[in-house]
Amino acid sequence: MPQYQAVKGTRDIFPDEAAQWKYVEGAVHTLASLYGFSEIRTPVFEYTELFQRGIGATTDIVGKEMFSFLPDPNGRSITLRPEMTAGVMRAALQKNLLSLAPVHKLYYISELFRKERPQAGRQRQFSQFGAELLGVSSPVAVAEVITLMMQVFESLGLTGLNLRINSLGDTADRLRYREALQLYFAPFHDQLDDSSKERLEKNPLRILDSKNPAIQDIIAGAPRLYDYLSTSSVEEFEKVLFYLSERGIAYSVDHRLVRGLDYYCHTAFEVTSSELGAQDALGGGGRYDGLARELGNSQDLPAAGFAVGMERLLITMEKQGLFAALIPHAPLVYVVLQEQELLDHGMQIAFRLRKAGIKTEIDLAARSMKAQMREANKMRASYALFIGKEEEQSGLYALKNLVTSEQSTLSLEAVLDILREPAQRELLKS
Ligand code: HAM
Repeated sequence: MPQYQAVKGTRDIFPDEAAQWKYVEGAVHTLASLYGFSEIRTPVFEYTELFQRGIGATTDIVGKEMFSFLPDPNGRSITLRPEMTAGVMRAALQKNLLSLAPVHKLYYISELFRKERPQAGRQRQFSQFGAELLGVSSPVAVAEVITLMMQVFESLGLTGLNLRINSLGDTADRLRYREALQLYFAPFHDQLDDSSKERLEKNPLRILDSKNPAIQDIIAGAPRLYDYLSTSSVEEFEKVLFYLSERGIAYSVDHRLVRGLDYYCHTAFEVTSSELGAQDALGGGGRYDGLARELGNSQDLPAAGFAVGMERLLITMEKQGLFAALIPHAPLVYVVLQEQELLDHGMQIAFRLRKAGIKTEIDLAARSMKAQMREANKMRASYALFIGKEEEQSGLYALKNLVTSEQSTLSLEAVLDILREPAQRELLKS
């Protein structure tokens, strides 16, 4: 056992898996751009209050899961970002983005940190891709982000996903509901766990998000927020459902769905995969018009977004066999050395080929010619270029097409001419 191991809840991504990540990231970049979203990158840490105010002090994320520290004895506490939405909103407000244009469509693929108990699909460092649509106050915005998310899943070939959706109403709806919940839970006070007791005072809606099996029966009997929605909130929700149906996006309405973050209003949604086991949430999101005001803006700023866990997405794709056709990029040519003294010359040839944009491999482990050929075939190289003493002197090389077995003797210029075109095609594919 080596002395140092990766920190609990983190993992290494080796080249085969990195190819899968690149493939998924490529799909995200392409589709986000198709919908007119532009990439945003924000700092990995922010002031702790940003998350306390943004996500909510009584949420599990803020209460238990943040990696927070003091940068210096008199400094303000800072926190490794546990999610992206608060940081994106902070950045948008700081830059006064909405004064530059009325609508901003932003997306990201980012690393996040939560101090959760690690298990399959749950890490302490993980990644999300997500999108935030700022400036549009209507069901159109939330339908737009759900549509983008579902199209990413579809383009990757995922099947068997379940999109659940609910309305959390507006602030007035939730205030009425809060009172109803406090009345409902009061007689069960002694049966509640400590964190639910605290939440009963401060934010009873959060009790509904509790994972404690001992209080699930009590939660199941609680009144539904949906029954406290105003007519206009119900209409807003129905409009979202209408858009989804019109686009052929299957969903199920789940009036028990409350997300683990406080900033949502009106529509909230979550996508699950039965392939994932206990940690079955692949992604989620919703509208969060009130977040800007929570962060000190003088007014609400209409917004909607989602985020999808990259690790869970990759686990689901692996289980559905969606990486089967993904082979790491093969070299176009493998430079085969007849003897090791020719390494310098071989390296010079490889340099010329690479300079011309041709993906080239050469053995650096001083292996036999037979072993080099085995490696070339294993890597699925399209060509082998043989270098022997004779070739070094004459400047004429044997180029073998490893698919057709055709072989010709050519000058380096002629080799470059032959390989340039397929190299261009490969470049466009990657
Ligand atoms: P969230 O539901 O907390 O939402 O996270 C979204 C997704 O990130 C989850 O569904 C899950 O796939 C993944 N995830 C969360 N925690 C972990 C973990 N410890 N390990 C692995 N994957 C994890 C948000 O973060 C919101 N910011 C989404 C949003 C964007 N709402 C509006 N805009």
